Amino acid sequence: MKLSIIGTGYVGFTTGVCFAELGHNVICVDNNLEKLDKFNKGESPIFEPGIEEMLKRNLENGRLSFISEIPPAVKESEIIFICVNTPPKEDGHVDLKYIERAAREIALSINDEYKLIVDKSTVPVKTAEKVRETILRYCASGAKFDVVSNPEFLREGTAIKDVLEPDRIIIGADNEHAKEMMIELYKPLTDKINVPVKFVNVRSAELIKHGANTFLAAKISFANLMAYVCEEAKADALEVLDAIGLDVRIGKQFLNPGIGFGGSCFPKDISAFENTLNVLGIDMSLIKAIQQINELAWQRFLKKVEKELWVLDGKVIGVLGLAFKPNTDDIRNSPALKIIEELKANGAKVKAYDPQAVEKTKKAIPDVQYCLDAYEVAQGSEALLICTEWDEFKALDLERIKNSMVTPIIFDGRNIFEPSRMREIGFKYFGVGR
Ligand code: NAD
Ligand code: UGA
Repeated sequence: MKLSIIGTGYVGFTTGVCFAELGHNVICVDNNLEKLDKFNKGESPIFEPGIEEMLKRNLENGRLSFISEIPPAVKESEIIFICVNTPPKEDGHVDLKYIERAAREIALSINDEYKLIVDKSTVPVKTAEKVRETILRYCASGAKFDVVSNPEFLREGTAIKDVLEPDRIIIGADNEHAKEMMIELYKPLTDKINVPVKFVNVRSAELIKHGANTFLAAKISFANLMAYVCEEAKADALEVLDAIGLDVRIGKQFLNPGIGFGGSCFPKDISAFENTLNVLGIDMSLIKAIQQINELAWQRFLKKVEKELWVLDGKVIGVLGLAFKPNTDDIRNSPALKIIEELKANGAKVKAYDPQAVEKTKKAIPDVQYCLDAYEVAQGSEALLICTEWDEFKALDLERIKNSMVTPIIFDGRNIFEPSRMREIGFKYFGVGR
């Protein structure tokens, strides 16, 4: 099929590359010329395992192209995906201006040749109806189109796998023709793997996305609450949560306590869902509790550091991990950055390293000593804070780390080490919930 993707960020780029890999012809559109330049050279502007090879392969076989203008892409395509950003406004509402702009531009290019518009961006319930109204307002009379919702559940760091082997495909469509086109679109995938495809109404599809992210965030906040309880009660949160997760109704995933969730999605999407509840006149206390516990997670971690080191002013503190999670260079809402800002505000001298996110962090917080690896960070440090659970940190030579520190104290914000082993090596060790 002939597709176009409007907005080639984490979602649009991955979607475009994967649909090309599945055999479709894909035109990706973005108005960021710097990004386009990279795409056309076969370079990925984001760190995402496996994506660059797939990009190069599909540029070479001619199934994938990148351009800056929406009209020619719409003209050439049967299906047009909207994958633009939906950032939060200051008050927590979703800023839908990029969605509206994309809808208007699509409208100007459609006529009586039928087009299917697919909203893949994460949006509040009823947005597809607004997109439809917008297109109707600006399109030529007699234009033929439908708008469907097809939310995306990929995670950064495993984006390719999540798109090519999803847990489910959700399609919110209100008419048969649109459904049939979506079935044909996903056929190369559904022929290969056994994946449930759920047809729901458009509003349900939009709510499924916000509901799923809110539930996952709630699980993490529950784990962080249990970690707090276990610290106060002198129990071990990993033992407790592991056993709780053995119940198949609960499951073990997303029950890892730490310094809280970050990223471009959970914080934004649960605020957006909170706003939906508000608009509908529904009590929002569950959402507020998720947010409060998440803030407390990194603040409590910092308190442990302050309690142990007493005065932070003038102390050299090493931070390992800047990205909001491993296998990405994304630092949006990363708890590591909040912690660094607080350490600096208290007069600490911060040294930091991340396998992928140093360049982005340098732009956000320039006055930190960025290092080439974890060993350089440890050299002369009075404490090490582990903020992202990169595999590279799990495999460190801990004797070497200990010997290069002024005082061998580790605050492990992601519980990557066993406390007993760390104490045996000679570290003063603090995990989360243990
Ligand atoms: P992003 O900010 O990385 O990328 C958005 C892209 O859209 C940018 O490159 C921007 O230049 C482009 N854009 C905006 N308006 C445009 C226009 N009019 N014409 C052409 N290009 C335009 O965003 P993202 O992380 O890919 O997220 C996109 C949407 O998908 C959001 O709604 C997000 O919540 C959702 N989502 C994100 C993830 C994720 O892991 N990042 C996962 C699932 C869903
Ligand atoms: C999340 C969802 O997992 C995706 O399904 C969804 O598509 C995406 O948001 C989105 O809507 O954009 P992502 O933000 O990429 O994906 O990353 P996650 O793996 O979900 O991690 C989010 C945050 O939660 C990270 O900061 C991570 O460290 C934290 N986390 C995760 C925990 O603190 N504990 C856990 O047990 C799991």
